[in-house]
This record gives sequence, C-alpha cells and structure tokens, in this order.
Amino acid sequence: MDNRQWILVKRPVGDIDDETLALRTAQVRELEDGECLVRNLYLSLDPTNRVWMSDREQYLPPVAIGEVMRGITIGRVVASRDPRLAVGDAVQGVGGWQDYWVAQGGAATKLRDDGKTPLTLYMGLLGMVGCTAYFGMLEIGNPQAGETVVVSAAAGAVGSIAVQLAKLRGARVIGIAGSDEKCAWLVEELGIDAAINHRREKVYARLRELAPQGVDVYFDNTGGEILDAVLANLALNARIPLCGLISTYNATGRGSGPANYGAILIKRAMVKGFIILDYQARYGEAISALAGWHAQGKLKYRVDIVEGLESAPRALGRLFDGSNQGKLVVRVAADTAH
Ligand SMILES: NC(=O)c1ccc[n+]([C@@H]2O[C@H](COP(=O)([O-])OP(=O)(O)OC[C@H]3O[C@@H](n4cnc5c(N)ncnc54)[C@H](OP(=O)(O)O)[C@@H]3O)[C@@H](O)[C@H]2O)c1
Repeated sequence: MDNRQWILVKRPVGDIDDETLALRTAQVRELEDGECLVRNLYLSLDPTNRVWMSDREQYLPPVAIGEVMRGITIGRVVASRDPRLAVGDAVQGVGGWQDYWVAQGGAATKLRDDGKTPLTLYMGLLGMVGCTAYFGMLEIGNPQAGETVVVSAAAGAVGSIAVQLAKLRGARVIGIAGSDEKCAWLVEELGIDAAINHRREKVYARLRELAPQGVDVYFDNTGGEILDAVLANLALNARIPLCGLISTYNATGRGSGPANYGAILIKRAMVKGFIILDYQARYGEAISALAGWHAQGKLKYRVDIVEGLESAPRALGRLFDGSNQGKLVVRVAADTAH
C-alpha cells in the first residue's frame, strides 16, 4: 500500500519554504503482534511544529533530517493485530505528516466516537489544546471575579478557549488579535469585554485606556512586543502563564529579551512557563470540565480545515501570518464512517 509522507529534508532558517520538506511515497509494512495500521483523517498543525523542525533547545527531541515530520493525527484503524483496537475505531496519536502509520504498544488512543462530536474537536477544545487553556488559565493564571485578564493570540486555538474560561470565572477579559474580524468575533460571539488589533493599534496605549487599574493575569501566547506592552501595564501581584512565544519561532539569531523585565520585580509578578505534556495525568479532569461547558453552550469553538496532506507545509505558514480562523487542521482523507 502506498503511503505519502512529508520528510524533513532541511532545517529552516526563518519561515519554512518549499525546500524544508519533501513529499515522498513509501510502502506500508506488514503488521506485527500488538500493532495496528491507522489511516490518518486529520493532521493537527501547531506552532510547535516549527520548533520541532529546528535544532534549538526544546522539550522533545527535534525531528531528525530524513524523518517523517512529527504531528498529531486522528484516524481510523484499517488493520489490527492489537486486541485493544478493532478495524473502524477512531484513534488519536502522534501519527506524523503521512497517510498511514503503524501504532505500536498503545501509541494510538481510542476516541469516543458517538457520531455527533466532530472528530476535529478532539484536536482542539477536547484535546491537548483545550487542556493547555484549562491548566494555563485556571490553575496558573487563576483569575478571580472582577480581575482584569489579557490574552494574546486570543482568537486562536488555545487563546479562544482561555478567554472564555476567564469569563466563566467572572473576570474582565481583553483579547489581543491580529485582525478586525478576529476582534469582532471575540467581542460579539465569545462575549469578551474588549479586543485590541495588534496590527493596527498601539497595544501599550490601548491597554492603558482599557485597564487603568492594570492587568492581573496575562496569558502569553506570543512573547515579543506584545509581552513588553503588557508588562508595562501590570497590576500588583500579577500572574503570567507563559504558554508560547510564537513571535520568536521563525526568528533568526538570538533576539532580545523583554525590555520591561523590571516590571516583574516592581509589580511582584509571577511568570510560570508550562508545557502541557506535564499535565498528562490530569487531562481527563480538564476534558470532562470542557466538554460539560461546551454541551451547555458556554464554550464556543471554531476549526479551520485545509484540504489535502499535500497542503500541510504551506498551511503551517497560516499560523504565522495569522490567517487561520481557529484551530488549524488538515483533512488528510474523507471519513466515510459516518
Ligand atoms: N505550552 C504548551 O504546552 C502549549 C500547547 C499548545 C500551544 N502552545 C502555544 O500557544 C500559542 C498559540 O498556539 P495555537 O495552537 O493556539 O495557535 P493559534 O493561536 O491558533 O495560531 C497562532 C496565532 O498566533 C498569532 N501570531 C502569529 N505570529 C504572531 C506574532 N509575531 N505576533 C503576535 N501574534 C502572532 C496569529 O494570530 P493573530 O492574527 O491574532 O496575530 C496566529 O493566528 C503558541 O505560542 C503555541 O506554541 C503552547
């Protein structure tokens, strides 16, 4: 059976380009006992994919040159010698940028496939993305009713959940996003209090107006200039869950540190970096809470689907130019099960 695979052929410098990955065709091998063959249906595109392509210090080993690009996938079992999984089961795992993968030793997790929940929701709200917003906002940020919360990349996969969780806590929420359409969606659809378009407005000055008492919680998805603008607007005892630094992932050279680092001292602020894999033992708790709020209509979510495995490298760029509208996913194959 033919298996199309995106292979990492060159470490990118700056934005990824057409030389970074190559599409090759390999043959699917025979299964051994305890293994199953999964047909990928959806591939999750995440900012961290760009980090995995580099060899900078990171939380997992970088993808090696010549390897299939790492990626989280959802698919269906098409052959099985694993007694825990049957043909037709929907599963999630690190299936890679390819059509098929062989899951060994429980590497594929069976999903609750009720025919009503879109499988893509398990890549967003009901998956690691949802857990990231949940633990980052509710445990590290821990916003209280009446406090002011700011979230960057607020209309994105993680950010759009983080803002809604802060609203559920009764906080005043300001989102920072990169277009007027995203800002309008945040205020009108998600019901947050205000939004700032970082491409058109001066974030520092707008925060001064919108949060004269200062920012109690800043959920940082971007780092860079936005972080500096928020640091200069912190309230006393502010908390900063440091979730991601997307403004730096394509950077070349060392870059500079935050200019307003001193505000952390003066405002007795707490900054905590976190990687969601560290919370694995508690995913169940987060996902059942998120699913409950979603079922009650208290959490809205949007998924941006790109067609075809061949589109994956170009589509990844949308996370960096901001053209994704919610959780970015590639449809690798049509799901004929429902
Ligand atoms: N710590 C963890 O375990 C963990 C887990 C998942 C994700 N993350 C991090 O969370 C962040 C968001 O990831 P996501 O999956 O939810 O992606 P996303 O927000 O759906 O997409 C990325 C968004 O980042 C914004 N962006 C891109 N370049 C930017 C720049 N230079 N300055 C400001 N904003 C920029 C764009 O939105 P605008 O149009 O609004 O600019 C873009 O839509 C990333 O930093 C990611 O690495 C961390």
